[in-house]
Amino acid sequence: MTYVVVENCIKCKYTDCVEVCPVDCFYEGENFLVIHPDECIDCGVCEPECPAEAILPDSEPEAQEWLEVNRKYAEQWPNITAKKDAPPDADSWNGTPNKWQHFSENPGG
Ligand code: SF4
Ligand code: F3S
Repeated sequence: MTYVVVENCIKCKYTDCVEVCPVDCFYEGENFLVIHPDECIDCGVCEPECPAEAILPDSEPEAQEWLEVNRKYAEQWPNITAKKDAPPDADSWNGTPNKWQHFSENPGG
């Protein structure tokens, strides 16, 4: 079991989740964060901290398609251990559908 960052994090990236993770298993791309599935201890404390409700346990059907995305980019992106300012337009992206398109066009960013 692991928790997984899902689509609504894209372009929101509030980073409240990072602040509470006891094992520092978040990794940062320009527009999105991921959780390393092998490092997450499944404590669940990050889930209610996300203002975008973008963290789910992998037992949720919606999380399934994001699990391998989290694994893939956690291996590539740098670790993030402290909260930072969200993008200035984060609130306007919160809840926007089909954010995946923006991510897949520029996954490194
Ligand atoms: Fe970190 Fe716990 Fe969230 Fe896993 S569930 S990412 S260990 S805070
Ligand atoms: Fe993303 Fe939510 Fe964390 S928007 S950066 S998963 S607090």
